[in-house]
Amino acid sequence: MKAKIINLPKISDPRGNLSFIEEENHIPFKIERTYWIYDVPGGQVRGGHAFKEQQEIIVALSGSFDVIVDDGKLKQTFSLNRSYYGLYIPAGLWRQMENFSTNSLALIISSTNFEDTDYIRDYNEFLNNIVCND
Ligand code: TYD
Repeated sequence: MKAKIINLPKISDPRGNLSFIEEENHIPFKIERTYWIYDVPGGQVRGGHAFKEQQEIIVALSGSFDVIVDDGKLKQTFSLNRSYYGLYIPAGLWRQMENFSTNSLALIISSTNFEDTDYIRDYNEFLNNIVCND
């Protein structure tokens, strides 16, 4: 499975635009949790791990940042800077978030509740896991 951009609805309006997400129509999993990352100081990096189970959608609600998705062979950079794009990341991929603009706001919609044991934080362990699953 690959990461991919999901186009979200955008209702353009001279009073200000509106976008929305519906689980049934836009999300390929059942939503268990949302969290958000904000007040990121310049140059800081978030993420830098893989999830065994968690699937997620990342939306740049405000500002911009890059999400680097790595399947162990190929690294893809997604530059998120529009609040009507969602980046879907299936389980089992290494992902890192960086290059946050001032006042950026990253919304993460997750298929699981927080579970520390779902994290693979060691890159070599991640690579070994892929070899085992190949
Ligand atoms: P972590 O997922 O490691 O952050 P990053 O996005 O940089 O990878 O989470 C940082 C800390 O926050 C960690 O101690 C776990 C805690 N946390 C929760 O308690 N609940 C959550 O839903 C999340 C995402 C993190």
